Amino acid sequence: MAKRLVYVLNGPNLNLLGMREPEIYGHDTLDDIAGMLEDRARELNCEIEMRQSNHEGHLVDWLHEAQAESVHAVLLNAGAYTHTSIALLDAMRSIVTPVFEVHLSDPTTREEFRHTSYVGLAARETFQGHGAKSYLLALDAAAQL
Ligand code: DQA
Repeated sequence: MAKRLVYVLNGPNLNLLGMREPEIYGHDTLDDIAGMLEDRARELNCEIEMRQSNHEGHLVDWLHEAQAESVHAVLLNAGAYTHTSIALLDAMRSIVTPVFEVHLSDPTTREEFRHTSYVGLAARETFQGHGAKSYLLALDAAAQL
């Protein structure tokens, strides 16, 4: 069977993981998480492509690209754009590629302004509050599709 490609898209400030508020987000860097995902992807006969941008439009473009490239699924940690971006919600609704929402922390137990998730309105499923493991759980779910 051909390997299934999964895009792992990361939004603003996630490039600083490891040193950014470690008491909330842990000590793993985005590269560490990419390594864990690559190991798991091998077991699942998937391949991951990890990307990060601090710019909302890049995330929109990559969602469109996921569909154009017939990617199997997308894992999306949109960072703070989760709570603000109707553009990301529209992009998710514009494609048929399944998108899984991922968060290291559990935004629903944090400040009120994090309780709304536009991404969650169109996500296939949400994995949050498990630290780096949230990504692994989302990859497992994506591989089961
Ligand atoms: C986050 C949660 C968001 O509320 C926050 O803005 C982030 C990270 C998480 O992974 O826990 O940047 O998406």
